[in-house]
Amino acid sequence: MKKKTIGVDTGSRRVKAVSFVNGKFERVSFPSLTVPGSLDEYILQQEARDGKKKPISERLKSNEYAIHIQNGVEHFVGELAVRQAPQDASSGFGVPGRYWSDRSIELILTSSVLLAPDDEELELYICTGLPAQTYRTRGAIDKVKKNLIRDFEFTFNGQKYFRAITQVDVLQEGAGATIITAREGLNTQGTIDIGSRTVDLYVVGPDNVIARWCVGTDKVGVEKIVDQVQDWVQREYQTDMVLSPYQRDAILMALAYDNRSFPKITVNGEAIPINKIRQWARQAQTLVGNDINEFIVKSWKDSDSGLAATTFDEVNVDGGGPYFFQETLHTILPHFIVPKQPEWKNAEGYATQAYMLLEDVRSEMAM
Ligand SMILES: Nc1ncnc2c1ncn2[C@@H]1O[C@H](COP(=O)(O)OP(=O)(O)OP(=O)(O)O)[C@@H](O)[C@H]1O
Ligand SMILES: [Mg+2]
Repeated sequence: MKKKTIGVDTGSRRVKAVSFVNGKFERVSFPSLTVPGSLDEYILQQEARDGKKKPISERLKSNEYAIHIQNGVEHFVGELAVRQAPQDASSGFGVPGRYWSDRSIELILTSSVLLAPDDEELELYICTGLPAQTYRTRGAIDKVKKNLIRDFEFTFNGQKYFRAITQVDVLQEGAGATIITAREGLNTQGTIDIGSRTVDLYVVGPDNVIARWCVGTDKVGVEKIVDQVQDWVQREYQTDMVLSPYQRDAILMALAYDNRSFPKITVNGEAIPINKIRQWARQAQTLVGNDINEFIVKSWKDSDSGLAATTFDEVNVDGGGPYFFQETLHTILPHFIVPKQPEWKNAEGYATQAYMLLEDVRSEMAM
């Protein structure tokens, strides 16, 4: 059977999956959301509405996925989960065991189809990651491996597929990015991965990982900005409304890019002035930035200066965080580097590791 290597970063917000093929990274990304759902019912509803019979491929948009693993429950994945059940769709965030759940399998199998849609059958070599605390929990790595190393028969958007996962490597989040950004000749190199709901720190010395500096938290992250804005909306307008995924996204995009505008938000028929939303979003950005700084300083304090990582040779900042927090990070980190497209670095590192796993097996077989 044909073999494929894939690195999968199952983030709380988006799955980033990467394959290293012919010297290049091939990448796919989709929201990490799943929700139980029936593709047959969904298609029947559409047929009832327009009275037409069409193939499934014409009924689903290019980023809508439904997966049904044999003997399991069918799920909508990614955008289809967001569109069909925005309030019920789960990213698994905060659920103990989410890294060795059926959900995790569905996200990895979805990635494997998106990266190789024409390969009905594949043997997979997977590398994935765990946040620092989970990584160090006894048995966690084995649970991830045990959950994944199996044969899977499933339908994806109505088509049959077979994937045999035979090799799995598990790295600590941040370690993936370090594989990509590591440079020879440095003594201490730190990586900060600022995700949507987590921040992970990872440090390597000249020849080993420095465990006491590899720590993480799920108390801060980019999405806290929108949580804070929502709190202020609820308080000021005496409402329990929650922002939709589109409004949440639009607020973040407006903060990250000058040419994007803040979304319209209406409470009981009254539109909140855009200026107010902008002001709240920027205030929240600073507050969350300061919380992230506090965590980094607490974890990487190596002097009494109030700065962090002053003795490190280099610090890289990855994940989606750099689109929001570079200004605040400058107040505590004397020097840091943001690679291009930082949100992909972990997955690219995992992909590199998975590729090397296969190379190792091939060279062993050749001996
Ligand atoms: N290219 C981009 N431009 C602007 N914002 C981005 C970009 N990529 C990601 N983000 C934002 O950064 C946040 C963090 O993204 P990231 O992909 O690092 O999160 P994650 O890996 O899913 O979460 P976690 O690591 O906490 O589990 C997202 O909420 C998203 O809004
Ligand atoms: Mg992440």
